Amino acid sequence: MFVTHLECSACGRQHEWSRLQNLCLSCGKPLFAIVDLDRARRTLRHETLGTREKSLWRYREVLPLPGNVESVSLGEGGTPLLRAEKFGKDIDLWIKDESLNPTQSFKARGMSVAVSMAKHLGAIKLAVPSAGNAGGALAAYAARAGLEAHIFMPRDTPQANVVECRELGAHVTLIDGLITDCGAEIARRKANEDWFDMSTLKEPYRVEGKKTLGYELAEQCDWQLPDAILYPTGGGTGLIGMWKAFDEMQALGWIEKKRPRMFAVQASGCAPIVRAFDAGEKIAAEYPNAHTIASGLRVPKAIGDFLILNILRQSNGGVMAVDDEQMIRVAREVGSSEGLFVCPEGAACFAALESLRAAGKIVSGERVIIFNTGSGIKDLDWYQNQ
Ligand SMILES: Cc1ncc(COP(=O)(O)O)c(C=O)c1O
Ligand SMILES: [Zn+2]
Repeated sequence: MFVTHLECSACGRQHEWSRLQNLCLSCGKPLFAIVDLDRARRTLRHETLGTREKSLWRYREVLPLPGNVESVSLGEGGTPLLRAEKFGKDIDLWIKDESLNPTQSFKARGMSVAVSMAKHLGAIKLAVPSAGNAGGALAAYAARAGLEAHIFMPRDTPQANVVECRELGAHVTLIDGLITDCGAEIARRKANEDWFDMSTLKEPYRVEGKKTLGYELAEQCDWQLPDAILYPTGGGTGLIGMWKAFDEMQALGWIEKKRPRMFAVQASGCAPIVRAFDAGEKIAAEYPNAHTIASGLRVPKAIGDFLILNILRQSNGGVMAVDDEQMIRVAREVGSSEGLFVCPEGAACFAALESLRAAGKIVSGERVIIFNTGSGIKDLDWYQNQ
């Protein structure tokens, strides 16, 4: 394996990869895995990727986990990139359909890599606060790894997510509050319970799994990145991971310097990044009274806020907030025009595309990628009641 060390994304302090780590020991910000790309490129060549397995472990050299250690895998990654001709109209629109991952969401990517590493480094009990999908993914990979999963979810998490976690053998606790309250409960109890905290960006390897979204997208676009990417942003791990992948691929000589404009899509009832971006802030204040049917977007405070805002600005991208009613309406439009039953978070991006198009921030003929991060099947309660 070619990860040499972990580096703080804020202060740069180095940490060892070879012991279980959460946040930077100096400043409490997220740690990133640093890959020795000069060594990785000796065996990882983009020309020969086609001969490798379909799962995200095809990019093994840029992922953590020593080469002689078996990954904890359920076949995650390798999802289709589908043309959306009818919905896209005059836009060259494509959907990266992440609902085909194990446990039906993109959270499988991060958890496959993070659980593999947690197991390798000796963790036994894993804990996570979850809007629903991360919990399901942790439950599945922990079961596969023979580890315990302790999942804390808001009480109003979709029923499908709760049942899924229980059926996968996890210990589930429902909390009267938001995902931030779930995280606080884990922080309070983890030392006594001997839990390893798997909160997104509070351990270094979920973002490594998520970065394969960027590698895969580039590969599927024949190493020509699109003009714009719309990403439904809660904690923002996918956005941050993709950006890291773009940096790595540029260093590997696989792509040009030009980056897509990155757009963070949030719900009108919980839009901390939208608010901070528009106000020119470097970090995002906690969003009061957070509410939306898109549980993955119900994240009032993200630890990676400064990283997300930086990426949006550096890429010349932006933000868009979407109402719940719009999500439901557009989900049905996408379903009937493109044949995909999208999650509300994915639907939010299609609604955002309409608004960005109307605002002239995306123009005719541009190649645009939307991430459908999960399946609508987990949100039947919402779709049924409309
Ligand atoms: C379906 C779905 N989309 C988007 C998100 C937000 O993901 P991220 O934390 O990478 O911003 C989540 C997170 O729970 C989710 O479940
Ligand atoms: Zn630091």
